[in-house]
Amino acid sequence: METAWTKQLSVGNAVIDSEHQNLIVMIDRIESMIKANEASALSQELERLEHGLCVHFINEERLAKAVNFPFDKNKQEHKFVLKEFQRMKGELLAQNGKWTDSAATHYSNFLSDWLTGHIMREDMLMKPVLQTYDYKFWPGGNEGDTNYTAGSMASLYLELFGTPVP
Ligand SMILES: [Fe+2]
Repeated sequence: METAWTKQLSVGNAVIDSEHQNLIVMIDRIESMIKANEASALSQELERLEHGLCVHFINEERLAKAVNFPFDKNKQEHKFVLKEFQRMKGELLAQNGKWTDSAATHYSNFLSDWLTGHIMREDMLMKPVLQTYDYKFWPGGNEGDTNYTAGSMASLYLELFGTPVP
């Protein structure tokens, strides 16, 4: 199921909206790869998505702190999703491109359903607070420090949860 970003998915912040748009594109790509049984391309794309999710969660937490939004529930959800993601990645890669149609549908649906739920149920709670700030607001005023491209997965997990694994 292809997900499209619409204005209804806006949480009222430019950085977070643009990260959500990128995550939607990545997840759509992964769904196509799962359906086409492209195992090696899928492996790389799953790594990119895992990295993108961690960076996104770090950024959401920074923003929540800056606007005094209580973040404990979101953080629990992020940890749960990353654990599920790791389990799913392991299962998909272990099957090495030979997953069944029903497994492919299951994994594709998990990712797109999760992303829509993450935005609509969790992030949307921040919208009333975020709307009291400029749409382009970012803590410290520098959006350039939002990408963490040099960070390894272990260092991203360390920053998120204080441990090298979720
Ligand atoms: Fe988000």
